[in-house]
Amino acid sequence: MAETDDDVVPLRGGRITCGVVRIGDTVRRPASAASPFVAALLRLLERRGFSGAPRYLGRDQAGRDTFSYVPGWVPEKLRPWTDAQVASAGALARAMHEATRGSRLAGRHQVVCHHDLGPNNAVFQDGTPMAFIDFDMAAPGSPLEDVGYMAWLWCASSKADAPPVDSQAAQVRVLADAYGLAGPERAVLVDAMLERQARNVRFWAEAQAGSGTVEATRAQIADRIAWSRREHAHTAAHRGVFEAALA
Ligand SMILES: Nc1ncnc2c1ncn2[C@@H]1O[C@H](COP(=O)(O)OP(=O)(O)O)[C@@H](O)[C@H]1O
Ligand SMILES: [Mg+2]
Repeated sequence: MAETDDDVVPLRGGRITCGVVRIGDTVRRPASAASPFVAALLRLLERRGFSGAPRYLGRDQAGRDTFSYVPGWVPEKLRPWTDAQVASAGALARAMHEATRGSRLAGRHQVVCHHDLGPNNAVFQDGTPMAFIDFDMAAPGSPLEDVGYMAWLWCASSKADAPPVDSQAAQVRVLADAYGLAGPERAVLVDAMLERQARNVRFWAEAQAGSGTVEATRAQIADRIAWSRREHAHTAAHRGVFEAALA
């Protein structure tokens, strides 16, 4: 079927990639250096029966990567989530990791990490996170990289109107339980949160210094660096509360 302008719906929720569009029940994304790995990963997840990710459908005539459109709602903003939502996200992340364990793509690492598992890359159906999207940052790694990042973005916040820190910490425990994080890893989950917050500062600082492939103004990037620093300071200041909840 010919592609008319009416069929092409820009998808502007993301913060990174220019030119993501929906056409019918597919999503088209400009190809990037990450494309071959993402294609192989989504095919692996499909082969191993993981249903919480788009299917990779190949390149279209314009050379864009084509994915299945996952129906539902993708949050644009961070906000507090219920324990049930956090638990679903944690279980989904575990299932995704297990589907990559021992694979050629994971290589000598434990699993393939998504590396950007915030709520902004989750598709919710009837209020429940059912799939992850946006696998551009995926790479072999340790589960803690993803779980640490999720503990931050799904459960913790430095904002003045955020839930009290002990509720945030209790929710980090909900996430760790739902993921099934083992004892030794739980003991370093707060370190993993801090590490991911620091890595976020570096990511945006490098984006500011460099390539210009990221869809953000200098002012937006500066805001994200400042926010990541505040989040890191918040986690560090309340480290004992988070660790006690996980013990
Ligand atoms: N496979 C998909 N199914 C449903 N919605 C999608 C899919 N891929 C992308 N989207 C929508 O497009 C937005 C931007 O895509 P995303 O891949 O997250 O790019 P970015 O790198 O900009 O974050 C997402 O926030 C989501 O709303
Ligand atoms: Mg995204």
